[in-house]
Amino acid sequence: MHSSPQTIFYLWRESLPFCHCPPFPRSTAQYPSRSACKSRLSVSARARLFIPPLRCKPLGPPSICCTSSPSRRLLAATVVVTAVPAPGSSTTRIQTMQKLISSVSHHIRTVIMAPKKVTIVGSGNWGSAIARIVGQTTQRNPSEFDPHVRMWVFEEIVDGKKLSEIINTQHENTKYLPGKKLPENVVAVTDLVESCDDSDILIFVVPHQFVPKICADLVGKVKADATAISLIKGMPDVPYSRKYAASPHTGLAVHKDSGIRLISEEIRDLLNVDVAVLMGANLAPEVANDNFCEATIGTKKIKENGALLKKLFHTENFRINVVEDSHTVELCGALKNIVACAAGFTDGLGYGDNTKAAVIRLGLMETTAFVEHFYPGSNLQTFFESCGIADLITTCYGGRNRKVCEAFVKTGKSIAEVEKELLNGQSAQGPLTAEEVYLMLKNNNVVDKFPLFVAVHKICKGEMKPADMIESLRNHPAHL
Ligand SMILES: NC(=O)c1ccc[n+]([C@@H]2O[C@H](COP(=O)([O-])OP(=O)(O)OC[C@H]3O[C@@H](n4cnc5c(N)ncnc54)[C@H](O)[C@@H]3O)[C@@H](O)[C@H]2O)c1
Repeated sequence: MHSSPQTIFYLWRESLPFCHCPPFPRSTAQYPSRSACKSRLSVSARARLFIPPLRCKPLGPPSICCTSSPSRRLLAATVVVTAVPAPGSSTTRIQTMQKLISSVSHHIRTVIMAPKKVTIVGSGNWGSAIARIVGQTTQRNPSEFDPHVRMWVFEEIVDGKKLSEIINTQHENTKYLPGKKLPENVVAVTDLVESCDDSDILIFVVPHQFVPKICADLVGKVKADATAISLIKGMPDVPYSRKYAASPHTGLAVHKDSGIRLISEEIRDLLNVDVAVLMGANLAPEVANDNFCEATIGTKKIKENGALLKKLFHTENFRINVVEDSHTVELCGALKNIVACAAGFTDGLGYGDNTKAAVIRLGLMETTAFVEHFYPGSNLQTFFESCGIADLITTCYGGRNRKVCEAFVKTGKSIAEVEKELLNGQSAQGPLTAEEVYLMLKNNNVVDKFPLFVAVHKICKGEMKPADMIESLRNHPAHL
């Protein structure tokens, strides 16, 4: 636990020259800047911040510093004390200090800026790569984030040892991201509920088929005002979709009839928290290698949490753009895995780059058509973000769905068999997503508008020969 018991609250960095109370720590490095404080305040509070800090009132240990109004004219104004609890301060201690400050003067109002606690729900290939980023950014921004990051680990035995113990002692996920060190402030926790207890930001990064069970275990156990962000590419399982489509209690504004559900909606409905998404051209091994790349965050609450979420993921080599059109971001992330399967089939069949490029383009056309059909009025610009065209290209050349589907054609084995042989316990999401999408298309009588998505599903199910995929694309709606 990172704790600094002497310091309960501190002001922004620039106010420190005015503080003379001895117990107040001298080093300014860990304090947030005034602008960082301001960005977290409400507009009305911000308006009052022009009052420069003039005096400091030592109140005895534990000490606090207060700003006060510089002129009599302003004495009636409320003075805002931006207070940041030291990492590790307990909630009761924070509340006590808040009362203490208020008791000094009713003109003083505290704005508590507790650093956000972050949990990574998942520790596979992508979860571990993202842990390297979040471990860094939380350490770099201690006023925004608690640097103690918990990572939920689905316990497995690797080389006779518990994976969680390997992670906490060797700081490496030897099964899912071998050879890459994890920051030491990322701690593996095997109890799901404990890992999320009191967390403000929950990063969901598990294969999508595990989401319902994980969320069911977390119902009522996460903070009511927590924010979730889903890095999961895929779509919920069909039985869940059907259940929700049929339920009169879901409050779904859209797509009740189609049964379409997004993972973010599934998490939101089960846990009753806000859910943003992060998608992009991000093959985990390359991100873990610190190669330059981009990602897109989609959040409907861009004003409230866009800047904070960006800060949590944005690094020199992982560049983040934030957009409001979160369902488009998410659908691009899910549907590109189907297109990658088609690309893998063309590779397996020995076609060249022209055919693969045509498959990628037709896949993009079907992706935009799908989004437009189910979410009319989406922002076309979002398809040009990293989550759109960039992710599609990288997945169709380098991703595991492509690899599995190429091997499926070349070896004649089942998808499950090649997945087992090639992916070391990981899973390819494309075939599962293709099945979900096919059922949605069928329910909505639009199967003939999406020949590529349909062909991928049928091939994966053994209902169509891979060689027949090209035939089904000859009369594609994009050519008519
Ligand atoms: N790997 C990538 O390059 C990448 C990049 C971007 C997005 N994604 C997306 O991130 C998500 C997670 O992918 P990943 O690559 O980290 O997964 P992965 O296939 O590497 O790991 C599988 C994870 O699932 C866990 N698991 C196994 N059985 C489980 C169970 N019964 N219940 C709960 N968890 C179980 C494993 O412990 C492991 O942590 C997916 O939706 C994927 O599409 C992956």
